[in-house]
Amino acid sequence: MRSFDDLWETSPRVLLITIAPHDATGELAGYTELDVPAEPDSPVEQVDTLVLPEHRGHHVGMLLKLTNLRELATRFPGSRSVETMNAEDNRHMLDVNEALGFLQVSYAARVEKEHRMSEESTFTIV
Ligand SMILES: CC(C)(COP(=O)(O)OP(=O)(O)OC[C@H]1O[C@@H](n2cnc3c(N)ncnc32)[C@H](O)[C@@H]1OP(=O)(O)O)[C@@H](O)C(=O)NCCC(=O)NCCS
Repeated sequence: MRSFDDLWETSPRVLLITIAPHDATGELAGYTELDVPAEPDSPVEQVDTLVLPEHRGHHVGMLLKLTNLRELATRFPGSRSVETMNAEDNRHMLDVNEALGFLQVSYAARVEKEHRMSEESTFTIV
């Protein structure tokens, strides 16, 4: 993680992170990240968002994303758009994103190769 952080230090991109410590325990309940490119015309990438299972369903995910988007608007007022990618069956994350105003613009399929001992290989669209 430290070497990953060191890489970000040298990058012209900025990783904007909001975290949510749990008041009672100090444990990190969740975080979200926006990857901000150096060129203001390029879209910002919404990357990871994670809330620990025991803290889900209390709008921590929504508040994390809202806070980070507000920080983006304050610190990078030239940013024009934010892109994100969600699994179609991740209803909780889609609920948050739709409420925040994200609109679907495209689909992407992933192809997974199943390794078999035989010559034959099968492919599954997931
Ligand atoms: C997706 C995720 C970040 C949502 O976090 P969260 O704090 O639970 O989010 P919210 O509470 O704001 O959830 C949004 C909606 O889903 C509901 N919800 C979320 N988790 C739920 C659960 N476990 N059971 C029932 N409802 C749930 C919320 O109640 C809310 O609905 P509402 O607005 O109608 O009340 C969290 O589930 C998670 O970390 N998932 C695993 C990682 C992941 O998939 N990340 C996104 C891909 S990058």
